[in-house]
Amino acid sequence: MQTLDRSIDDAIADPKTYGDQGRQHELFTQLRAEDPVHWTEPQGYRPFWLVTKHADIIEVEKQQDLFINAPRSKLFSIEFEQEIKQLMQGRPHLVKGLPQMDGLEHKTYRQLTQAWFQPKQVRQLEERIATLAKRSVDDLLARGPELDFYNDVASWFPLRVIMLILGLPASDEERLLRITQAYFGGSDPEVQRGSDLIRATQDYIAYFDGISEERRRNPTDDVASLIANSQIDGKPIGHYEAYSYYIALASAGHDTTSATAAGGLLALMQHPEEWARLKANPALVPAAIDEMVRWVSPVKHFFRTATQDYTLRGKQIRAGDHLLMAYPSANRDEEMFDSPFSFRIDRNPNRHLGFGYGAHACLGMFLAKTELQYLFRELIARVDSFELAGQPAWVQTSFVGGLKRLPVRVRAA
Ligand code: HEM
Repeated sequence: MQTLDRSIDDAIADPKTYGDQGRQHELFTQLRAEDPVHWTEPQGYRPFWLVTKHADIIEVEKQQDLFINAPRSKLFSIEFEQEIKQLMQGRPHLVKGLPQMDGLEHKTYRQLTQAWFQPKQVRQLEERIATLAKRSVDDLLARGPELDFYNDVASWFPLRVIMLILGLPASDEERLLRITQAYFGGSDPEVQRGSDLIRATQDYIAYFDGISEERRRNPTDDVASLIANSQIDGKPIGHYEAYSYYIALASAGHDTTSATAAGGLLALMQHPEEWARLKANPALVPAAIDEMVRWVSPVKHFFRTATQDYTLRGKQIRAGDHLLMAYPSANRDEEMFDSPFSFRIDRNPNRHLGFGYGAHACLGMFLAKTELQYLFRELIARVDSFELAGQPAWVQTSFVGGLKRLPVRVRAA
């Protein structure tokens, strides 16, 4: 039964909602209280069930045969979905990465690179990640005392880490940063820079085609060489699958982590007692990073599609219905978290869904946590205090993102 005003449906699909943190959480709090599995019909979009409770997202995501990924993965307007189908000659996705796959296909493709993202392999890269973190804080202190923490620091560091894993040359940094920001910022007029998602995808393809060709001729020990030279069912990986893999890694590994770094620092500035506690006790850094991911929830959603009729919290889901998993909402769920609107760096337990759940749970989770830990250890050791030097601004996106501007004044330790 529909209990809420229709304007909520439009607000959920509107990227502007996510550019206003207060509004976003006000909406989700109302939905969790009044209609936690809400049939949503935004104008110009195909309808879906909006799943806002922590327990319900887990119930859906753990049943990967009943709720699949491939038919619909992100919230796009009907007009844009049609444009993609036309451009892709009937295929529903511009990019078919792990989040657009199911079953054996998903397992096979995930296993291709999985070892690179497991703790053992990430630990081997720790020294180089630590050097990149140190370099970020060197840059910050050299640029200070006033700078934009998001644009000058947070957006570069995770990009450099993912380039390290992929094995991409440092000289390509600026080009990749521009493409990634256009890829995620498509609905925000300030970060759009005249491109759109299709243009950004084409730019990515042109870039990674060159890398693939080079790595087939001269393979090296990195993830780009692994993808370029991989075999699926005894045949070389296809062009669509290869560029999709590169794009999924480059894009997923970057904006999510920079959004957490900037949003995490803002939270520490807004809670100076937590900054002081962290400085006094660096052993709290790992727990603080988890709290930052919960607090920021940079991934706003992924979809699942039901393969059978199913009852979820009393709502009758039909086979073929789509369900939007609202991670920021799950991460403020009053039934899961004690004082969910308090930022506590030592929150324990902290079973947030910032990295998703189940078979599709974030492949780069350990890498993301490791790099954020190095960055914040470096910050608390070398910075005495941060204060806001202007108004922070959030990117308008219904998919992935966080701050797009964080002006700060830094006092070195
Ligand atoms: C703080 C940073 C990050 C956050 C918050 C985050 C969040 C997420 C979320 C919510 C999902 C979807 C999970 C689901 O469907 O249940 C996901 C999937 C994924 N993430 Fe991350 N991520 C982060 C960093 C990274 C990094 C550094 C990489 C490295 C390349 C990465 C690679 C991926 C990939 C490949 C997937 C698809 C997995 C699949 O469908 O099997 N992510 N991430």
